[in-house]
Amino acid sequence: MQFIKTKDSSFTVYNERYKEHYHTLSGALEEAFEKHVNAIGVEDESHILDFCFGLGYNSIAATKGHKNLNILGLENDLEIIKAIKNLTVPKEIEKEFSAFRNLTEKPEITDENNNTIKLILGDAIHTIDQLPEVFFNRVFFDPFSPKKQPEMWSKEVFKKVFALMKPGAKLSTYSCAKMVRENMKAAGFIVMDGPIIGRKSPATIAIKSHLASRNQQLAPRKMCNYSS
Ligand SMILES: C[S@@+](CC[C@H](N)C(=O)[O-])C[C@H]1O[C@@H](n2cnc3c(N)ncnc32)[C@H](O)[C@@H]1O
Repeated sequence: MQFIKTKDSSFTVYNERYKEHYHTLSGALEEAFEKHVNAIGVEDESHILDFCFGLGYNSIAATKGHKNLNILGLENDLEIIKAIKNLTVPKEIEKEFSAFRNLTEKPEITDENNNTIKLILGDAIHTIDQLPEVFFNRVFFDPFSPKKQPEMWSKEVFKKVFALMKPGAKLSTYSCAKMVRENMKAAGFIVMDGPIIGRKSPATIAIKSHLASRNQQLAPRKMCNYSS
């Protein structure tokens, strides 16, 4: 796997199947911090879902300065997980990254700040069905683009993710596509602009309202079952 240097000196990869880079070329690490971690904020003890883990930048960035995080990463490509072993990262996250290298040998690691990172390998559309409802405080949502991978950005997937989140929980993603935002709203999210980083359009933040009732929280899962 060939690493490509982005403008902030962090490396990304090009995916031949989807004909897309894993990150914006303006900065892979900057994207992780600015479009995800800083955009929705992370607190110690949070339960985080890293939906499309890849090289793990979003999770690595989340662990910086935090302790007792419980991170669950979903990824279907073992090759990209193996590539983590050979990744060189910028100095600012070298310390946090050292524990992540072990993910190439075992699916669950704990770093020196008691942050636990667990990977589930498989198609995230299906592996999310194994996860507990009303559990996550933060979600980093990071598939390939809606143009290349529309199935990942569907109303049904957002409904499943919504059901996994606690009231007040937040989701971050780089896309602001109309279809994406409409599907998020249909799933029950409040949708807002995220930061503008490395391009003209904003990222997106989706919030599960504190007012989401237990019934509303569970409704998406029921609807998915009816249609499947
Ligand atoms: C845009 S990259 C994500 C970059 C990643 N967050 C990082 O920091 O490196 C998309 C990732 O989603 C993974 N992916 C694509 N389809 C998937 C699926 N159906 N289930 C799980 N992972 C998937 C790809 O293998 C790739 O690693």
